[in-house]
Amino acid sequence: ENEKYILGIETSCDETAVAIVKNGREIISNVVASQIDSHKRFGGVVPEIASRHHVEQITVVLEEAFNEAKVTWDDIDAIAVTEGPGLVGALLIGVNAAKALAFAKNKPLIGVHHIAGHIYANRYQSEFKFPLLALIVSGGHTELVLMKEHGSYELIGETRDDAAGEAYDKVARMLGLPYPGGPHVDKLAAVGEESINFPRAWLEDDSFDFSFSGLKSSVINTIHNAEQRGEEIKKEDIAASFQASVVDVLTTKTRKAAQKYQVKQVIVAGGVAANQGLRKALDEKFADSGIPLLIPPLKLCTDNAAMIAAAGFISYERGLRAGWDLNANPSLIL
Ligand code: KG4
Ligand code: ZN
Repeated sequence: ENEKYILGIETSCDETAVAIVKNGREIISNVVASQIDSHKRFGGVVPEIASRHHVEQITVVLEEAFNEAKVTWDDIDAIAVTEGPGLVGALLIGVNAAKALAFAKNKPLIGVHHIAGHIYANRYQSEFKFPLLALIVSGGHTELVLMKEHGSYELIGETRDDAAGEAYDKVARMLGLPYPGGPHVDKLAAVGEESINFPRAWLEDDSFDFSFSGLKSSVINTIHNAEQRGEEIKKEDIAASFQASVVDVLTTKTRKAAQKYQVKQVIVAGGVAANQGLRKALDEKFADSGIPLLIPPLKLCTDNAAMIAAAGFISYERGLRAGWDLNANPSLIL
């Protein structure tokens, strides 16, 4: 019997998600209950509300995942759960659900790093070829990571201030767009003109680090100055110009790092990987590079449990198991 089924659970932020995945690369079911509507009126994720939703949703989502998959507990070989990073109260719901289920159903338990999950979302498209470079762009992370083998992550660059998704959400807020702002800015940018030359933070010549706080300030100043002068700048143009700056820096540094480390694959991970401008620019940047580029389909870019099961499967194959002391770790290191 060579078929391995992993049950994945993800509750690190504002999505309650459960998935069942066969052999690490075939999604049998993938259920995501989003809480966005509950957080929207506060302009961001409210941790208390997130925890309460996870408690209410986890058993419902779990049942739906089994119904969709048409498999039973007998088929499940292991349970993989996000142990961190994320909101501690939110993580605790998933971790405790996973522990309770593992105990009751007598299944091995596997702890997964949320960002490893985002990275392994790419394995639904292709087997990994090492060394590979991962560009991670989410609400909390902006990193370039070099992987020489499964489960090994070498940080070669990271943001010194805001994460890319965070910058998107803040700029969206300034433009009066609803939370989460990234997709809204993306839509406006598609119809705007890059009429404003916002700064690009290249940092030191040999640095693969990022910085988005200067860009954010520049956007604020531009909006305020225009207001004071009674001028009107189109939101679409601000969005397009802001996005051009973010995308320029992300794609240029990724290509440079890919060359330097002679990687065999470049993969993109995290919610901002859903950005149409970034996807297009990366495609163009790597078209003549000879380096294959992987970007997950939109549904697997933002938080889900199929990615957690995909990463969990690799840990399972490597014999990694969590003990009953598995705990939520809001600042878990990759
Ligand atoms: O990975 P993710 O779902 O959650 C975290 O682990 O952080 O990423 C969420 C982030 C948010 O900041 C959201 O605004 C951003 O991803 N995002 C986007 C797009 N879709 C989601 N940013 C830009 N363009 C998008 N299309
Ligand atoms: Zn995420």
